[in-house]
Amino acid sequence: MPMYDAGDLSPPFLGLTDCRVDVGDRRLLDIPELDLSSGGVTAIMGPNGAGKSVLLRVFHGLVAPGTGTVKSDGAPQSPERLRRQSLVLQTPVLLRRTAEANVRFALRTRRLPIERTAELLARVHLADKARTPARRLSGGEQQRLAIAQALAIEPSVLLLDEPTASLDPAATLMIEDILRDTAASGVRIVLVSHDASQARRLASEVIFLSKGRVVEQAEAKTFFDTPKSAAAQDYLAGRLTT
Ligand SMILES: Nc1ncnc2c1ncn2[C@@H]1O[C@H](COP(=O)(O)OP(=O)(O)OP(=O)(O)O)[C@@H](O)[C@H]1O
Ligand SMILES: [Mg+2]
Repeated sequence: MPMYDAGDLSPPFLGLTDCRVDVGDRRLLDIPELDLSSGGVTAIMGPNGAGKSVLLRVFHGLVAPGTGTVKSDGAPQSPERLRRQSLVLQTPVLLRRTAEANVRFALRTRRLPIERTAELLARVHLADKARTPARRLSGGEQQRLAIAQALAIEPSVLLLDEPTASLDPAATLMIEDILRDTAASGVRIVLVSHDASQARRLASEVIFLSKGRVVEQAEAKTFFDTPKSAAAQDYLAGRLTT
């Protein structure tokens, strides 16, 4: 049985035990044990190809590990638990319809009241774009629309894969504000990001992946001030690693 701090009686909201993901003879993930229990935002960082996106897909049930167990709230991940979890991909998948139709669609798929559409659009600052076709929204607006869809299901866990990767600074800060508000409302956020400044601004904890392994897991301030592994030191210094 895992042990928890006396002050933290809730089990980790996500976790892995003995998790390996192989494709052919390549091992994409090799994680003996990982527990995510910190509140707020957990940042997943690491070089290109480290396995960050694969890890999010494993957490979200889109990739089944070859061995091991995915855990949610201390129990094996289940369809019921996945219903309270949303994943926002780097390139949003939107319907070729208006912004509000996209949010209504997300609500309908869960049989939730579509009256919440306006409130959800307002939450991501898209109230004035409700009737705009999604394909005519800017990259930042499309990303915010995808976040509104993700929030429509009232998730307890929100996973995001580089949501601000191709956005300008203003659009990036707008999304960070939305994520901060969302975390403050009690939603656990797992954010894959290459942006160390962003992770410093948002994250309470950092998980650093390299070559499919968790090399470091630390409180964000500790990670950025005193990264322990050579891989993280190189990454943060902008040095290329093999
Ligand atoms: N379906 C797949 N089949 C084979 N290899 C895959 C598959 N998905 C991912 N990979 C490989 O697994 C490794 C990890 O991929 P992943 O997309 O998780 O990296 P990442 O850390 O998200 O990188 P980036 O920062 O570039 O997004 C890469 O080498 C990738 O080529
Ligand atoms: Mg990726």
